[in-house]
Amino acid sequence: MARVTVEVPGRPYPVLVGRGALQEVPRLVREMRASAAAVVTDTTVAEHWAGAVSGGLTGAGVRAVVHAVEPGEQAKTLRVLGRVLDFLEDSAIDRQGVVVALGGGTVGDLAGFAAAVWLRGVRYVQVPTTLLAMVDSSVGGKTGVNGARTKNGIGAFWQPAAVVADLAVLSTLAEDDYRAAFGEIVKYAVAMDGDLGARLEAGLDGLLARSSTALEPVVARCVELKAGVVAADEREGGPRQILNYGHTVGHALESASGYAAAHGRAVAFGMEAAVRIAAEMGLCPASLVSRQDALLEAFALPGALPVTSADAVLAAVPRDKKSRAGSVRWVLPREMGRAQVGFEVPPDVVAGVVRSLLP
Ligand SMILES: NC(=O)c1ccc[n+]([C@@H]2O[C@H](COP(=O)([O-])OP(=O)(O)OC[C@H]3O[C@@H](n4cnc5c(N)ncnc54)[C@H](O)[C@@H]3O)[C@@H](O)[C@H]2O)c1
Ligand SMILES: [Zn+2]
Repeated sequence: MARVTVEVPGRPYPVLVGRGALQEVPRLVREMRASAAAVVTDTTVAEHWAGAVSGGLTGAGVRAVVHAVEPGEQAKTLRVLGRVLDFLEDSAIDRQGVVVALGGGTVGDLAGFAAAVWLRGVRYVQVPTTLLAMVDSSVGGKTGVNGARTKNGIGAFWQPAAVVADLAVLSTLAEDDYRAAFGEIVKYAVAMDGDLGARLEAGLDGLLARSSTALEPVVARCVELKAGVVAADEREGGPRQILNYGHTVGHALESASGYAAAHGRAVAFGMEAAVRIAAEMGLCPASLVSRQDALLEAFALPGALPVTSADAVLAAVPRDKKSRAGSVRWVLPREMGRAQVGFEVPPDVVAGVVRSLLP
């Protein structure tokens, strides 16, 4: 089992990564001297894994209650949040209670936000069950739900007390969701860690087969990379922006397609655009374009994207320097393992590249 510490000032927390890590949840919750544990999950995850978690807690003498929301992004609303808060109230979760967020990024964001606002903040443990949540959303303390028109518009920074990533739970994850997460994993490699890039290239078979032996060092390394920037920049003013590699065009594609594309897929598309922009601006060698393409392709990324046009994506790319959103600071790669923050890209370069990738 790998263990990474997220050194946020004042309240560092552990991230456990490995096969069988789920068994550590009861011990962690007991060590927190929790009065009770409220497991928040979704109905799909509940079917496979909620029994193991709540059974483990009960077996360790912790009162455990379970609430399952509908699966998918539609659960990230104020309405569903209200029901989760009602559940916490009905279950008599007091200030010593602990919320256990058992699920993908959707449940993590929703349950984490419920923990942030219930009684002005109770402790919570992230138990990510998607590969995306393990390498990204469960670490860093960003929680929230969507506004009527604004993705993640309502939320809070609220750090978990611990994160437990059991690689065994990935066995029930849909292939599409599994592969999409490699959009984020390749992002870490290209933007921050060339050795991780080489490890992905060398370990493709094991990773595609979901081998825990192959996954553990990769997931732990992604967590370590995210932990490093989160500790340096909890609220995303500076260094944390490196994590947005591929996200400028990725977010535009997501928004243009009404969030029909899996996030990791959209990010993979955004990285295809960003590396081409960098090459065209003379910031990276052309060989990086083909190396990144090959790595993404190995995970079938970006794969079939929801029908959308280059124009629709371009319309959603923020670009006007004087717009209220402020100037766009692109994250662009220089070589495998090193991206830089803060580039301005001429709109015609963005347009040319996006048009070359989409009809
Ligand atoms: N907070 C952050 O820093 C951050 C970062 C990235 C993404 N996010 C958010 O994460 C969300 C996406 O997360 P996601 O990709 O994990 O999607 P998700 O949580 O919606 O899960 C995808 C699907 O997989 C199912 N599932 C989850 N675990 C499973 C398992 N082990 N076995 C079988 N089925 C399983 C779910 O029921 C769901 O249908 C988005 O809302 C995004 O905004 C947050
Ligand atoms: Zn992302």
